Amino acid sequence: MKRIRKAVFPVAGLGTRFLPATKAIPKEMLTVVDRPVIQHVVDEARAAGIEHLIFVTGRNKGVIEDHFDQAYELDRTLAERGKTKELDELRRDLPPAGETSFTRQQAPLGLGHAVWCAREIVGEEPFAVLLPDMLHHGPEPCLKGMIEAFAAEPSNIIAVKEVPMSETHQYGILGVGPVGKNRLMPVNSMVEKPPRGKAPSNLMVSGRYILEPGIFSILETQPRGAGGEIQLTDAMITLAKSRPFNAYRFDGRIFDTGTKIGFLTANLAYALERPDLGPALREELHKGLSSSA
Ligand code: UTP
Repeated sequence: MKRIRKAVFPVAGLGTRFLPATKAIPKEMLTVVDRPVIQHVVDEARAAGIEHLIFVTGRNKGVIEDHFDQAYELDRTLAERGKTKELDELRRDLPPAGETSFTRQQAPLGLGHAVWCAREIVGEEPFAVLLPDMLHHGPEPCLKGMIEAFAAEPSNIIAVKEVPMSETHQYGILGVGPVGKNRLMPVNSMVEKPPRGKAPSNLMVSGRYILEPGIFSILETQPRGAGGEIQLTDAMITLAKSRPFNAYRFDGRIFDTGTKIGFLTANLAYALERPDLGPALREELHKGLSSSA
């Protein structure tokens, strides 16, 4: 049985829902507290034991590559000034040399196309996909639980989260069978943004996947789908005809930082639980809320 060693981060999207902030800055580099969104998601992947990080980038995304590189001048200056805590943090976050790859999508043709662009780097092994704008926040990293479930029951695995039935038309939704051992539920159906009242469940596809490499040959010829884009969901529906798919329910909170409200609430939630920021922020919020009332 092959281990999950590689993770793909599709970061080539235009981030139009976050303009004008994303005109010159990739949305993945916007910060949740003091770490870029992409760093939080890379933290999740590394905590799950991922050894090779594959970024599918695009135009104006070069700063993401710089973020995961060593900054010699900065390191030297921090060392000279005795800022050892900051230096240690930078060193801890730096992926080991040779364990990152960057490839360009060239044109934003859709999530499915972005994943397909990683095919040569992934090769013939199952791999993880993490959508960087979806922050999964809980006691256990989502991908870690998925990889443990994969080790017990190798299959394609999609993370899901319960949402109110009234919101299902906004998301990819899975129809599933009963929970088996290893916390997995067999997937019976997948539907992208079902019309109101037609969703097979209230389980939203939350942006974490373990996929078998067979997905690449399907993506190769996948016609454009919803929104004129090459959709990962369409390719997964084809793969599910011949290969097992399971859903893994994540029990923590999810923040969609690609939306303004998701980004703002993520900042509040992450800051409020930090011992160095939480008490002062709580006080400021309290003051602000009582003065605006
Ligand atoms: P989104 O649709 O949420 O991202 O795609 P977007 O296109 O950047 O955002 P808006 O809608 O314009 O605001 C989900 C993920 O897939 C990546 C995005 O970067 C995001 O992480 N993606 C999407 C690509 O890498 N390439 C694409 O062609 C499309």
